[in-house]
Amino acid sequence: MFRSIRRWFDPTDMQRVGSNPDYRFSLANERTYLAWIRTGLALIGGGLAVAAFVPPLRWPHVREVIAVGLLLLGAACWPFARWITGHGANRPCGSDSHCPGPDSRPFSPSSSPWAPRSCSSSWSPPDSDNENGTPPPLILLATATRLLPRSAARVEAVRTRGGETRKRARMATQVRAVVVHGKGEQVRVETITVPDPGPGEALVKIQACGVCHTDLHYREGGIGDDFPYLLGHEAAGLVEAVGDGVTEVKPGDFVILNWRAVCGQCRSCRRGRPWYCFNTHNATQKMTLADGTSLSPALGIGAFAEKTLVAAGQCTIVDSEAPATVAGLLGCGVMAGLGAALNTGNVSRGDSVAVFGCGGVGDAAIAGAALAGATTIVAVDIDDQKLEWARQFGATHVVNSRETDPVEAVRAVTGGYGADVTIDAGGCRRCSAAPSMLAITRGTVVMVGVPRPEMTLELPLLDFFGRGGALKSSWYGDCLPSRDFPTLIALFRQGRLPLAGFVSETIGLDDIEAAFARMEHGEVLRSVVVFE
Ligand SMILES: NC(=O)c1ccc[n+]([C@@H]2O[C@H](COP(=O)([O-])OP(=O)(O)OC[C@H]3O[C@@H](n4cnc5c(N)ncnc54)[C@H](O)[C@@H]3O)[C@@H](O)[C@H]2O)c1
Ligand SMILES: [Zn+2]
Ligand SMILES: [Zn+2]
Repeated sequence: MFRSIRRWFDPTDMQRVGSNPDYRFSLANERTYLAWIRTGLALIGGGLAVAAFVPPLRWPHVREVIAVGLLLLGAACWPFARWITGHGANRPCGSDSHCPGPDSRPFSPSSSPWAPRSCSSSWSPPDSDNENGTPPPLILLATATRLLPRSAARVEAVRTRGGETRKRARMATQVRAVVVHGKGEQVRVETITVPDPGPGEALVKIQACGVCHTDLHYREGGIGDDFPYLLGHEAAGLVEAVGDGVTEVKPGDFVILNWRAVCGQCRSCRRGRPWYCFNTHNATQKMTLADGTSLSPALGIGAFAEKTLVAAGQCTIVDSEAPATVAGLLGCGVMAGLGAALNTGNVSRGDSVAVFGCGGVGDAAIAGAALAGATTIVAVDIDDQKLEWARQFGATHVVNSRETDPVEAVRAVTGGYGADVTIDAGGCRRCSAAPSMLAITRGTVVMVGVPRPEMTLELPLLDFFGRGGALKSSWYGDCLPSRDFPTLIALFRQGRLPLAGFVSETIGLDDIEAAFARMEHGEVLRSVVVFE
């Protein structure tokens, strides 16, 4: 009984849904802990106030009893807070192989598929009350006085494929979604279960979601093997519900989903570079297949679904006059390309820029370079149709690298100097364009295309040394969603950013495989799934 009472009162219980090793000490847990500490301090303050200011009562010692009682209750709040939240437990150990510690792994945002798994040596609070001893009698008092925080949702036990027992939200939503079960397998549209939002989470009704090359990387096992994956991550939609403690968004808000909800607390955030945040947030609860198997949402989003569950910080409110088909694209590829030019490459007016790979990301880099005032923009691709589209986004020269050596071509149009900023947006299967880019640049090379694990780079070090070049990676275009999304939507609304040009077609949820094929054949920039 005590166990269920404890669960009912513990908003963090929802965070133990799914596999316990992934449960980490979370912000919500921290809030609960702090709420109890504050309650304790208030009670102690009240006790002192009674002792100091209340005049002696008619009955002997009543004032003293009240004062001492308040002081004792206040003091008891601290062990109670530790007990109910497991505070002090379940923190990353900092020393096992999954837990390199923040400073040793600069590129490890937890929302990304490249992030380290959570610490496997962390300690979870015991699930049995017997292990924990008898719960403090305070819980009964708190029940009576309704002092305790409200539970986010009740949980129920469900049996998973492996036979083990897990818990999931009782009031969950069933929606249609696109899932891939194994490396290289075709995607399937299935009914999945989306829990109600817990503390710090938001449930979002998806209106549109673009098909990005990264979804294909997931399907091919190029990013990880945490199958089954729930694909889709370039999305916009309406917030439908939010969990406890969410203040940044509310139901009805039109939002773009982002995969970098920064923490604001880590070393990188505190040093003013939140786009390298070490501790970005995703929803803590798991979405599941019908049989209870946990899904891994692509980039912590999973938006090829009628509704998805994310951390509230993953929702960025933008002007609702923008069409969802266009707005959603800023959620990944288009933002990555624009940011590769504007934020990482720092393109400025009069620059010469070369962009390798003119898909959605590359064309966005071209559009960004044009917006920043670059005067020479060379588009390189192996597909003439792509090069034609690149012109429409602002390329001043185009090069088909199957027919012409791109290094010579870029040199030819830059007076022999090479480009000031060269952007690799190829996502090229067999090779990275970076080596040839380094040969042509004396400026900055930006890698925004995601390299495959087997890719390596051989550098002509003397050239690199002698020319003052720089090689930079661009995660999500080094964007800050709260700063960049509303700005770019405003530029679009003013007709200064041709975002609508990226939408080649709108499709249904059942058409993802065909869209992947069209993307591989270079027939589209972006296919966008539109939901009713
Ligand atoms: N860094 C990030 O945050 C981020 C975000 C989104 C996407 N990406 C990555 O960016 C890359 C591009 O994504 P996309 O959606 O534009 O893909 P896409 O398939 O639409 O475009 C890739 C383009 O590269 C061209 N290409 C292929 N091989 C080439 C070669 N050898 N030389 C020149 N061009 C070549 C193709 O013809 C195509 O036009 C992918 O690797 C994707 O995973 C990175
Ligand atoms: Zn941070
Ligand atoms: Zn993407």
